[in-house]
Amino acid sequence: MADTQTMPVALVTGAGRGIGRSVASRLSAAGYRVALTARSVEDLAGTAAECPGETLVLPGDITDPAFVDQLYADIEAAWGAVSVLVANAGAGVSASVVRTTDEEWQRMLDLNLTAPFRCLRRALPAMVERRHGRVVVIASVAAKIGEPYISAYTASKHGVLGLVRSAAAEVATKGVTVNAVCPGYVDTPMTDATVRGIVEKTGRSEQEARSALASKQPIGRLITRDEVADAVLLCVTNGAITGQGINVDGGAVPS
Ligand SMILES: NC(=O)c1ccc[n+]([C@@H]2O[C@H](COP(=O)([O-])OP(=O)(O)OC[C@H]3O[C@@H](n4cnc5c(N)ncnc54)[C@H](OP(=O)(O)O)[C@@H]3O)[C@@H](O)[C@H]2O)c1
Repeated sequence: MADTQTMPVALVTGAGRGIGRSVASRLSAAGYRVALTARSVEDLAGTAAECPGETLVLPGDITDPAFVDQLYADIEAAWGAVSVLVANAGAGVSASVVRTTDEEWQRMLDLNLTAPFRCLRRALPAMVERRHGRVVVIASVAAKIGEPYISAYTASKHGVLGLVRSAAAEVATKGVTVNAVCPGYVDTPMTDATVRGIVEKTGRSEQEARSALASKQPIGRLITRDEVADAVLLCVTNGAITGQGINVDGGAVPS
């Protein structure tokens, strides 16, 4: 039986469903002890049940700065330093620029930009000290292009790609890589919510709305969450990839 004390530690934010759930179970299968966080305890329990290895379920709101500190303290007390951080928790909002409220704007920046920054800031010192670490932020193709009606989301994702590029340059000689994975539309509960929004706003059928999102990818379908997890695992295993925003978008956006 493996000595679990020597197994490396990964933290996945937004691990309760969608992309985060796939990433967590893939890291677990690859031999990591995986700390899982999101707000819903029930969702996290579902993810833990899909992980073959040891997990730690630590529910909380990742936009709360005190929670981020507590999260790392709890992981370090249980298992020691985090060697892989996957900053995945995120959400979108749809509105024209002129209809975007201050609250919506701030919520996007808090969740998609500031929370990954705080997690990265807390993760890096131990990684640099141990001269090994992997950080992967789940950004979006919205980190690279602008589309209508998602300006707050797009601004937050452009911002987080900038954070990734700058942090990667800072720690490039320290054995630590920092990358973003930039998916197109992925078949997850977040995209289900986008479909519902299109149905409500346009009167189109659910199938029409889903097909419209599928056709955004030149491959003609939604990306699977496992395809996104594959790209995360590549960033985790390959020490020569850093400072990148890797598109997993079926050919939609040039790198
Ligand atoms: N789906 C897509 O088409 C797509 C495309 C490009 C990029 N992405 C990005 O990929 C990431 C994951 O998306 P997904 O599609 O897997 O979304 P999802 O199915 O909605 O899952 C999002 C996860 O983030 C957690 N989360 C949300 N707000 C949180 C908060 N304040 N504190 C802690 N956890 C929070 C959710 O759990 P709780 O609600 O329980 O907290 C959930 O576990 C996001 O960053 C998203 O922007 C998604």
